Amino acid sequence: MAEAKLHLADDRHVDLPITRGTEDEVGLDISRLRADTGAITLDPSLGNTGACTSAITYIDGEKGILRYRGYAIEDLAENSNFPEVCHLLIRGSLPSKSERDDFRTRMTRHTLVHEDMKKFFEGFPPSAHPMAILCAMVSSLSAYYPEDDSPEELDLNIIRLLAKAKTLAAFSFKKSIGHPFIYPRNDLGYVANFLRMMFAVPAEPYDIDPVVVDALNKLLILHADHEQNCSTTTVRTVCSSGANLFASISAGICALWGPLHGGANQAVIEMLDRIAVDPDGCEKYINLAKQKDSGFRLMGFGHRVYRNFDPRALILKKSADALLSKLGVDDPLLAVAQKLEEAALSDDYFIERKLYPNVDFYSGILYRAIGIPTDMFTVMFALGRMPGWIAHWLEERNSPGARIIRPRQIYTGATARPWLPIDKR
Ligand code: CMC
Repeated sequence: MAEAKLHLADDRHVDLPITRGTEDEVGLDISRLRADTGAITLDPSLGNTGACTSAITYIDGEKGILRYRGYAIEDLAENSNFPEVCHLLIRGSLPSKSERDDFRTRMTRHTLVHEDMKKFFEGFPPSAHPMAILCAMVSSLSAYYPEDDSPEELDLNIIRLLAKAKTLAAFSFKKSIGHPFIYPRNDLGYVANFLRMMFAVPAEPYDIDPVVVDALNKLLILHADHEQNCSTTTVRTVCSSGANLFASISAGICALWGPLHGGANQAVIEMLDRIAVDPDGCEKYINLAKQKDSGFRLMGFGHRVYRNFDPRALILKKSADALLSKLGVDDPLLAVAQKLEEAALSDDYFIERKLYPNVDFYSGILYRAIGIPTDMFTVMFALGRMPGWIAHWLEERNSPGARIIRPRQIYTGATARPWLPIDKR
């Protein structure tokens, strides 16, 4: 039944059925618009466009609510671990004990990467950004594990991707510092295994600190999904063409890399470093961010969806203090971040535009405390977002009646003109 009607200035009109979500969100279904009126909608940056229905993640940007499959992010960050959240996002439910054990065993058993893939690492210069390596490596997995239509094989590829991504990430770090790769160990959980592959060196014992394991689990959980953000939309778009899982996720990694998206966590620390040594301090950067022609933005501030606060940032801000004191780390950048936040939150420019710290503002401080180098921050985001991308890839692929994603445009270029030979142009 049509619940809304759109009339154009002339007599053309269209009925717009309304789709309501389980949280009472309202979507006007415009799929008949072009056929009935010849018009299309124009929504650059898609700020008002719902491109799909989804049962994975719910966000209320006004109230600062974020839930995965109905579970509050605060509960998950406090009580779950990352593999459990992977299960929740991908399989749709928190695992029972036997499901958890099975999932964990499979994720551990598939952690090794094919020995031949090590040769790829040799081809990269030591200065290669680890995001460049990660997207290339994830895409290369499709050469080793080609897609097969059986659900069992697809499920195995999902497990392989979750398990191997952290090995590839750790190898890319080892490559950048010229150290030998540390192979995964099957008796360790996801996070502990990753930490060991990152930081252990041969012939020396490496103690895994449970405080760091907890902190990293929390960070990964907070990044695990965020509905139709830029990289997830990329994954769904690439998936819609029928591309395989690894190719689609690799495209998502590329989209995440940009400084307005996941690359912001690296950019925040670089910005705080600059402020820390600048005698003019925070005020100069607040002023710069307010001048549109400066090209400078306060990194880690603002969000398309959150208009009051980002619940992930609140959790991380609290964790930053606690983690630093537990680890005995005195990071001067934490004080700079707190001062910058305070200054921005009391400035009219930021108040009027509802710009608040986002997840990237404090995450870098935590990564630093754990010992993760700055250019690996966005890789950490990618590891966290992996289950979200996979869940959306599956949802897109299995949506009844899903078609290739192919937006339209309003053409503003030259009208038809004749081709002229070169001496007559
Ligand atoms: N510093 C200064 N001004 C800003 C900022 C900022 N960080 N963010 C937005 N604005 C201004 C913007 O100039 C515009 O002003 P006006 O209305 O006068 O033209 C207004 O606020 C609205 O901004 P917008 O660019 O239309 O907002 P958007 O929804 O398109 O962009 C954003 C969202 C996150 C890309 C943007 O806020 C930004 O560039 N933030 C800095 C980068 C960042 O921290 N990104 C991480 C996002 S959270 C992690 C993730 O999921 O990716």
